Amino acid sequence: MKGARARVTRDRLSRAAAQLRHSAGLRVLPPRVACFQWRARRLALRTGDSFSLISATRPRDLSILLELAAGRRAVVELGTAPGWTAIALALADPGREVLTYDPIDRVQRERYMALVTPEVARRITFVNEPGLSGPLDAREVEMLYIDSDHSRETTIAELRAWRRVLAPGALVVLDDYTHPEFPGVREAVRELSLQGHPRGTLFVHTP
Ligand SMILES: C[S@@+](CC[C@H](N)C(=O)[O-])C[C@H]1O[C@@H](n2cnc3c(N)ncnc32)[C@H](O)[C@@H]1O
Repeated sequence: MKGARARVTRDRLSRAAAQLRHSAGLRVLPPRVACFQWRARRLALRTGDSFSLISATRPRDLSILLELAAGRRAVVELGTAPGWTAIALALADPGREVLTYDPIDRVQRERYMALVTPEVARRITFVNEPGLSGPLDAREVEMLYIDSDHSRETTIAELRAWRRVLAPGALVVLDDYTHPEFPGVREAVRELSLQGHPRGTLFVHTP
């Protein structure tokens, strides 16, 4: 009995410590984005949405992504998952339009979209298609963020599908470039000899 109580207390303490660590990590984000991330994580914990907790871009990389996105109004994300990063990109700039692709239409997205105002939600377009299906029209893209299946083949196909609509000076940011479990991203960068540099766990390509 004593052992079970000690275990419960230990679990509670470790959950509280994880919460504190996460909240401290949010300091690197713009206040509106940090507030959304905090509420989204709390909602995910309450609803048992472990997929969103695991898959969303971490605050440190998100802050780098938002810094890179500064002044860029037309942004495309490949790999929406729960939509946390698409929402963060829209929250960070009131003039930004975000187009985000994922072949899986995840039901929990609606819950997180309900945390933002209709004005922010209106600037996000969800496309239930794989990223390699390419642009919907000829509109120029100022930043392309690739965070989909991380395989070499898909990453190469996505880069090829989006090349023609990249605006002059556009950035292409690849997630998990340094992740040991996703060598496909590094292989694609090497195979296409992409110009650029790593930032955090991302690779920033300047076409
Ligand atoms: C790591 S999660 C993306 C996280 C999201 N960018 C964020 O920060 O919240 C990867 C997502 O890519 C999606 N995905 C897998 N293959 C894809 C493809 N070919 N095109 C677009 N999305 C894909 C998966 O369904 C999954 O939701």
